[in-house]
Amino acid sequence: MSDAKKLFIKTYGCQMNVYDSERMAEAMGADGYTLTDVVEDADMVLLNTCHIREKASEKLFSDLGRLRPLKDARPDLKIGVAGCVAQAEGAEIQRRMPLVDIVVGPQAYHRLPALARATGPQVDTEFPAEDKFDHLPERRALRGPTAFLTVQEGCDKFCAFCVVPYTRGSEVSRPVDRILRETRDLVSRGVREVTLLGQNVNGYHGAGEGGAWTLGRLIRSLAQVEGLERVRYMTSHPNDMDDDLIAAHGDVPQLMPYLHLPVQSGSDRILKAMNRKHTRDDYFRVIDRIRAVRPDTLFSSDFIVGFPGETDADFADTLDLVRRVGYGQSYSFKYSARPGTPAAEKPPVEAAVADRRLQELQALILDQQRAGQEAMVGREVTVLYEKAGRQPGQMVGKSDHLHAVHVDDATGQVGELARVRVVASAANSLSAVRIS
Ligand code: 5AD
Ligand code: SF4
Repeated sequence: MSDAKKLFIKTYGCQMNVYDSERMAEAMGADGYTLTDVVEDADMVLLNTCHIREKASEKLFSDLGRLRPLKDARPDLKIGVAGCVAQAEGAEIQRRMPLVDIVVGPQAYHRLPALARATGPQVDTEFPAEDKFDHLPERRALRGPTAFLTVQEGCDKFCAFCVVPYTRGSEVSRPVDRILRETRDLVSRGVREVTLLGQNVNGYHGAGEGGAWTLGRLIRSLAQVEGLERVRYMTSHPNDMDDDLIAAHGDVPQLMPYLHLPVQSGSDRILKAMNRKHTRDDYFRVIDRIRAVRPDTLFSSDFIVGFPGETDADFADTLDLVRRVGYGQSYSFKYSARPGTPAAEKPPVEAAVADRRLQELQALILDQQRAGQEAMVGREVTVLYEKAGRQPGQMVGKSDHLHAVHVDDATGQVGELARVRVVASAANSLSAVRIS
């Protein structure tokens, strides 16, 4: 094998996986691997998987099937499976798919280079006591002025449908000084916006000066980092929106007016069955309090339809909640029974009923999204340029409210914050002209 080994990574699922894939690429980079987009050129293929719904997990196995001819032609090609399917299924993956050389769980990524150097099948799904981030090399592969930064992992909430507490384990927060160091390093290399990530990010309780810090306190401290213009965070649980975090939405200008706050259902009966530990009114109260300090905040949510026992009346409550909140955007999923979770024991809702509900909910969400975007036409907004657009003289970036915006701007630079006027709204983006 030549010195310049090539690594192909496919990432499934959430933003935390995107971040983890970048960190694994960096770890392998220290071992002489460079990234390739061409799977046929790769010396190693890494599939960073998601286990949240059955469809997401099954994708892994169909992709592995497609890799078989490559592996047959080049038996020294290393195939690795990372992420939550690796954690959940461990060595079972290799039994089902013997072409897999390495199975590595999300807490063991710092050991990936050693696993890749070893010969024979390797499995590492330990939850080691050490912080994997301490053993990963410095950030390198930056692709523009925005970056994800994992500050918290795992979840202690145990919603009845969800595998995350099992695959990602209990909540662990990274210490404040590491996060500040990583942020300053990112900013020194051109990053202007960070999105703090965690499965339950607002449950953050990392060690800092004087004891455990809340997410609100961490955000206030990040806002002092010179050159960092924008902060976002996801994903949050309504019960962990504490007073200080809500206040930060009003008084930290760098904290952007967009919040992903999943509610899952609008029915109190279903919320209880889901073990969400909040009611719809609790959720409305959180939304109202954030809007009281920052009225233009846009919200997004996740919804599950067809949870076991969901009736037409329960679903009507979900539609009603969506109408009352008025979301900028949302994600909705048909319930998928996950092995080992409490809800998987219960009789499912008929598939055709769940399908119909999903369509109805998605239509309502899309209407709201379109209306929200239309309402931006004529308004002035700030856009952080992330890259040049497809058309000459065009820049592309996100507004404070996370709208994708295409801007006519022949002299715009990546990393610039530009004031623009929105002139049109398309399906998934806005068009604008620069004004200053
Ligand atoms: N079925 C369907 N959707 C699920 N989610 C989590 N678990 C399941 C499941 N078993 C959704 C939730 C969560 C998002 C990341 O995925 O809406 O917020
Ligand atoms: Fe899963 Fe989110 Fe519930 Fe945690 S809070 S169990 S990650 S849905």
